Amino acid sequence: MTYSSRMFPENILASLFVAGFVTVLLSVADARPATFLQDFRTTWSDSHIKQLDGGKGIQLLLDQNSGCGFASKSKYLFGRVSMKIKLIPGDSAGTVTAFYMNSDTDQVRDELDFEFLGNRTGQPYSVQTNVYAHGKGDREQRVNLWFDPAADFHTYSILWNHHHVVFSVDEVPIRVYKNNEAKGVPFPKFQPMGIFSTLWEADDWATRGGLEKIDWSKAPFYAYYKDFDIEGCPKPGPSGCESNPKNLWEGSGYQQLDAMASRRYRWVRMNHMVYDYCTDKQRYPVTPPECMDGI
Ligand SMILES: *[C@@H]1O[C@H](CO)[C@@H](O)[C@H](O)[C@H]1NC(C)=O
Repeated sequence: MTYSSRMFPENILASLFVAGFVTVLLSVADARPATFLQDFRTTWSDSHIKQLDGGKGIQLLLDQNSGCGFASKSKYLFGRVSMKIKLIPGDSAGTVTAFYMNSDTDQVRDELDFEFLGNRTGQPYSVQTNVYAHGKGDREQRVNLWFDPAADFHTYSILWNHHHVVFSVDEVPIRVYKNNEAKGVPFPKFQPMGIFSTLWEADDWATRGGLEKIDWSKAPFYAYYKDFDIEGCPKPGPSGCESNPKNLWEGSGYQQLDAMASRRYRWVRMNHMVYDYCTDKQRYPVTPPECMDGI
């Protein structure tokens, strides 16, 4: 189901034998973006998630009783995920809206995080990204968004292929985690990951390090999602999918940032980055090896 109409003919043929004809017909007709229920289910507090526009969008609610969350029905091994999100407007200090991929394994966790940290009215939202590979995280970076993410929908995406992981905001890369296995740096590639999102209260750490508390008199808080798009190798799914070099997300245009994307990435890092674990000497007296690579 999660194959899009952009799936390559070779894959369609392969899955014809693997998955049977009915599934293939469904896949071909399955134009993206999908509705919420096609690919996702509620994982936390049904009463706080409302479908909008025939399921093409959803509203997440946070109040003093509960936050809420949802997850993809499948896990994927490599792929490209994106959604449009409109964050909580006004005074959102102490709230966190998260969009992430996670292997959902306790011991050896792989995880790719987008966390949107709210702020007082007029103060910039921060986006924190983190990468867990083979159970180790602690690779936080933060950028302050250069627009008001609560005024309108913006596209947030994660590309995950054999070459790198790229977090993008409206096609502007804000974080690249390269496959540096050759230098002994772990890279997530063995475990499929699901796609998750939550809206929750985190005023013990999120805004100005926990100094700014949630103003519950402004509750309920609302965030909106739409245009869910997953292209990847579902697990379980067609065998060998994850190592097929013909997958869209493995293509030549996705193996490294092109000149335009590199320029934008540098612009973000020079003008909007507010924290980088790579340069945090207190935490890391010895610079982690993946940081030695430049950008
Ligand atoms: C919130 O606003 C303050 C003041 O502009 C800024 O220092 C901080 O980086 C912003 N984000 C968070 C998550 O505190």
